Parts: sequence; structure tokens; C-alpha cells
Amino acid sequence: MKIIQTKNYQSMSKLASQYVINTLKQIDKPVLGLATGSTPEGLYQHLIKAYQTHQISFANVSTFNLDEYVGLDKEDKNSYHYYMHKFLFNHVDVPSRNIHLPNGIANDLNVECTSYENRIQSVGGIHIQILGIGKNGHIGFNEPGTSFESRTHVVDLDESTRRANARFFDSFDEVPNQAITMGIQSIMQAKEILLLVSGSEKAEALEKLVNGKVNEDFPASILQTHQNVKIIADKAALENISYRYVSETM
Ligand code: GLP
Repeated sequence: MKIIQTKNYQSMSKLASQYVINTLKQIDKPVLGLATGSTPEGLYQHLIKAYQTHQISFANVSTFNLDEYVGLDKEDKNSYHYYMHKFLFNHVDVPSRNIHLPNGIANDLNVECTSYENRIQSVGGIHIQILGIGKNGHIGFNEPGTSFESRTHVVDLDESTRRANARFFDSFDEVPNQAITMGIQSIMQAKEILLLVSGSEKAEALEKLVNGKVNEDFPASILQTHQNVKIIADKAALENISYRYVSETM
């Protein structure tokens, strides 16, 4: 696990975008795992800028998102489908047939989970997975207690996660109770993981991820066991981590 410190959110986003662009350029048909939430918005802005200035094309890229709320259709402003189109897909040349998100309104959610997992396998797995982290250690929507063996599945969201995400909705009651998420195993099978962390409110979670026991009660701790994880975090998020473990460059 390599930890790279940046000054602030902007420099974290820029460094992440440069790294993603370089990685995509080296692969013939790259498969990119994507995350939602506030953290990756800056990264997506930089990717759009890079596309507009002809530094990168997404024509050969396939994308798989980590998760989607159950019960929200694609047009719902709070669905991750809507988020991804708003913050990235509508502004770059990724073909729509290459875009994959779990369908949160599928008739049979379990069938949808299996089919999503199969779709990831059928393109040969994810080359680089972008991740954020929840304050309770969730990755994707894998809440504390999720089995490290899990594949794409339906989850009941923790009240704390629903509260954290309520800022995007008109009221707390509108935040769905369930989501479909890639499982811990699905995430761990990515060849490379790029975790972005920003702000002092994530410092405790980041410290636990790096120094804590690998334990299902803190899902992100599993990342300690992945062969190729890079964490790009800003200074505020790294306030609990000794500078000895931190580098300034990729
Ligand atoms: C959400 C998403 C996660 C994300 C996390 C942190 O619940 N499902 O994938 O990493 O929240 O979000 P934020 O970046 O807004 O803090």
C-alpha cells in the first residue's frame, strides 16, 4: 500500500487524474471501476478537461460503477446513474454500451447482482478501481460486518451512511434503505485500486484503514491485503498518520 500526500482536495484530484490517464493510455481496452460521492467529483472534472484538450479518449474504455441505490430509476437526480452522467459520461466519448451500473429497479435484484458480477468477469475484470471511503469504513456500500468473501449483493444501508448521504436528498426520509454494491471480493479482484481521501472528517477512518486490524467490522481494512493499492490523500485526511509512511510522489 502506497500513500501519497497532496496539499489539498484540488491537488489530490489532479494527481489522481494524471495517474488514471497514464494508466488508461497503457492499456488497449481499459476497464475502469468508478465511485460516486463528493470525493471523486474533482477527478472527473480533470478527466473531462483532459478529454476536451485531446489528452485522452474514452472510446475504448469500459466502466463499472461500485454501487447504486435500490428503488431509484435512472432519471432520478439522486441515482448514481444520474450522477455519473452528470459528472462524467455526458462530457466524454465513452460509448454508452460500455457503461455499466447496477440496475436498482430490476425486477429481481438477486438476478441483477449475479448478472452484474458476470459482466465484470466477461470483460476480464477491472484494471483500476477508484474508491472513496465512508467514515464507518465502508467501501462501495459494503457496510461494517460485510463478509470479505462477498460478491455483488443487495445491502441494507446503515443509518449513519443514510445520514451522511442525506445531504444530497431533500430529506433524510428520501434516502433509500437499500443499495446494490459490488462485494468486497469483487473490489479486491481489481488489478489496481486507487483510493481518494480528503478532509479531516475522514482522518480517523484513514488511520484505521492503514494501521487497524484487518477486520470485517471495518471493511476498508481489507485493502491492507491487496497487492496494488495507492492512496492519494490530502494533508487534512492524513493528520493521524505518521509522515514516515507517506510519500509526496506517485
Ligand atoms: C457513498 C458511496 C461510496 C463513497 C462514500 C463516501 O456512500 N457509496 O462509494 O466512497 O459514500 O462518499 P464521499 O466521497 O461523499 O464522502
